[in-house]
Formats: sequence, structure tokens, C-alpha cells
Amino acid sequence: MAANKIVVSNPIVEMDGDEMTRILWAGIKEKLVLPYVDCPIRYFDLGLPNRDATNDQVTIDAAHAIQECKVGVKCATITPDEARVKEYHLKKMWKSPNGTIRNILNGTVFREPIMCRNITPLVPSWTQPIIIGRHAYGDQYRATDVRIPGNGKLEMVYTDAEGHQQKWEVNNFTTGAGVAMGMFNTEESIRGFALSCFQMALQRRVPLYMSTKNTILKTYDGRFKDIFQEIYEHEFKQKFQEAGIIYEHRLIDDMVAYCVKSHGGYVWACKNYDGDVQSDMVAQGYGSLGLMTSVLMCPDGETIEAEAAHGTVTRHFRAHQRGEETSTNSVASIYAWTRGLAHRAKLDHNEKLAAFCHAVEQSCVECIEAGQYTKDLALIATRKETVERSEYLSTMEFLDAVRARLQPKFDALMH
Ligand SMILES: NC(=O)c1ccc[n+]([C@@H]2O[C@H](COP(=O)([O-])OP(=O)(O)OC[C@H]3O[C@@H](n4cnc5c(N)ncnc54)[C@H](O)[C@@H]3O)[C@@H](O)[C@H]2O)c1
Repeated sequence: MAANKIVVSNPIVEMDGDEMTRILWAGIKEKLVLPYVDCPIRYFDLGLPNRDATNDQVTIDAAHAIQECKVGVKCATITPDEARVKEYHLKKMWKSPNGTIRNILNGTVFREPIMCRNITPLVPSWTQPIIIGRHAYGDQYRATDVRIPGNGKLEMVYTDAEGHQQKWEVNNFTTGAGVAMGMFNTEESIRGFALSCFQMALQRRVPLYMSTKNTILKTYDGRFKDIFQEIYEHEFKQKFQEAGIIYEHRLIDDMVAYCVKSHGGYVWACKNYDGDVQSDMVAQGYGSLGLMTSVLMCPDGETIEAEAAHGTVTRHFRAHQRGEETSTNSVASIYAWTRGLAHRAKLDHNEKLAAFCHAVEQSCVECIEAGQYTKDLALIATRKETVERSEYLSTMEFLDAVRARLQPKFDALMH
């Protein structure tokens, strides 16, 4: 049978997940991947029960396997909270798998919307995708924030390895209580972030903008700006010129204003907190979480992990458990597979595989543009508050509709 499939010589890492997306994931693999592609797959079950059974070792093993294979595709997973600990009788509140994988791979997450003609963004000028790269280390997320009880002097002290000290006065509180925060980042992490962003812009052949508030945080944000500039000059300037793209630093306020007026079509490198805020703004602006992809790119420019930006869609899973029909959007999860396999194709120079990935993505967009979509998109496309059952497809009907459009493209590719 393998003769009728696209042969892939090197493996990819597959990470299974939870709830409704686990069901989508299995459907995608069965209907859109395995019938067409003969690819060695290293499978890791990151579903919460197996993470608990392996004391989360499975997540760590999966991350190391991605480092070896250079390609990972991941289904959405539950990040447990107190309620999940009870629901799944967990041994402990395991950490977010995405956080664990990101810490091991040291990469940057890029979110990108999938564009369809009939899913109009809330911002009408956005005709091309805005890809947001969020620095996922340090700043507010590792800060020490405290209450200052009353009048007194707040100081910051640094002690080097030899015990020498440097001291800075932060504030002399004279009007009573207040709040304070100590925040940091490392040059190593900023460099990794910068490299991933330059690599991403180069791969997609789009401009890169990096935003900070260096007019206020001259030293802190200034260091981000300088490191990006340094890496640009030394490693990317020529490559960018050859690709006909630019790199520019912009003030965060200028960048936000530009973003809303722009047509899209660029990578926006955001500091950690800015990325947190702006990625949600951009996701909403483009219309649907079900059409938002997420790729973790490592500083080497060679290792990536792809997934949907959304979660496990618990509400739909509950309906599924009750035996009700669901209409969950699988497009972002399908793109997790195609973006991962397309990267495999690039590394292996496998043109057939690249063409196949393109055909799958094209089939998804064609379905949506022809009005074959799930309920979330039906609501957006028709601009109605409720839609009839005849106006949308169920979860599995959508996958079958994509397959029906894919099959002739695949047949043409193999002849
Ligand atoms: N990357 C990840 O693995 C990831 C990301 C976010 C949340 N989560 C996990 O997912 C679980 C549910 O979290 P949540 O409800 O906050 O986020 P969610 O993304 O699952 O859902 C948020 C909202 O968007 C809708 N939605 C999201 N994706 C959709 C799709 N494909 N089709 C149709 N509607 C869609 C949902 O119905 C819901 O109203 C949590 O346990 C959380 O830990 C995982």
C-alpha cells in the first residue's frame, strides 16, 4: 500500500492530547494523514491520564524526541488546575506541557491566523496574516512583586560571584504604603528570542518588526533593541536584503497604531507581556480561535513544534460525552499536522510532501470559502446570532468534506 503514499524517510514526533481535540486529532490522522503519507511517527501520549501515570516524564521525553527529529506536532492538552486534579484524581498538579516543552527547546511561539475570504477580520484592512512572536521568558512572568507596608527606602542589591555588591535606590516611600516589583531577563534568552524571530521572518519572507518601550526603559528595553540590532547586522542583514525584506525596531505604541492601520503580512516580535496582550487582540481581530495556528521555533531555525493555538474545547467535549453531535473546528489542528510535515518536507527536500501539505491546507480553505464549515465559522460568515443545523457541518462531516477536496489533488500529485 505504501506505493500509493508519499514516502517520508525521517520521523516526526506526534504528541496526543486531551478532550475534544484528542477526538479531532484521531480523526485528522485517520482521514487526512495516514491514507496519504507513509511517515515514521514517534508517538507520545500527552493526554492527562498518561502524564499522571508517567509522572510527566512523557512530556520531557517528547521534548527530547523533538530535539532529535527536529519536527513535532502537538494536540492541545489540559493544563491542570485544582478542579482537574479532582476530576482526573491526579497525583499532583502537573505543569503546563507547553511550558515544559518550551523550556527544554528554548524556542519562541509564533501565532498566525489562517485567512479565508468569507471570514472577514474585525479589522477590515487586515488582508494578510500578522504573525506574533512572543518572548516566553522572564519579565513580569518571573518578577518578584511585593507590598511595601509603609514609609521607608526600597533598594535593589546585586551581589556578584566574588561577593562584590552594587546597590540602587528604587524609591523612598514618604507617603505611606505602596507596591513594588523586581523584574529581570537574561541576554541568553533575548538572543534566542531574536534568532527565532529573524529565522521566522526569513522563512516566511516577510518583514520583521520588534517593539519595546526603550524611551522609558532605556537600559532594560534598550538591551533588547541592541541585541536584536547586533544579531541583525552580523547574521541576517544580507540574507534579509537578498530576500527583499526589512527589519525595524519600533516603539510599542507606534507599533500598535501601525498594526491597526496595516494590511498585515509581517512578523511582530513582542516582549513577553506585550505578546500576551497583543496575541489575544490579534486573534480576536482575525475572527476565530479555531483558525489560529501556533508554531514553536527554536533559535537554530531547524527545530519546530506545531499546534493549534486553542485549548481542548472542553464545552464541546462535555456535549460529546453526553452523546450529542458536535461541530468543533479542526482547521487549526489540521494545520498543526501540515505545518509540521511541511517543515519535515523542507528539511528532507521532499517536494511531494510539501505539495501534499499545501493541498491539505488549500482543501481546508476551499471548504470554508464554499460554506462547508463548522458552527463557529458559520456564525462569523453569516453574521447571524444563531444558525440552523443545515447551515453548518458536524466535526466529522467537516473532515470528510476536506478529504473529498483533497483526494483529487492527491491523485494528481501521484500521477
Ligand atoms: N495549547 C494548549 O494545549 C492549550 C491552550 C489553551 C488552553 N488549554 C487547555 O484547554 C482547556 C480548555 O480551555 P479554554 O476553554 O480556556 O480554551 P479553549 O480554547 O478550549 O476554548 C475557548 C473558547 O473558544 C471556543 N473554541 C476554541 N477552539 C475552538 C474550536 N476549535 N472550535 C470551536 N470553538 C472553539 C470554545 O468553545 C470556548 O468558548 C483547559 O484545560 C486548558 O488548560 C490548552
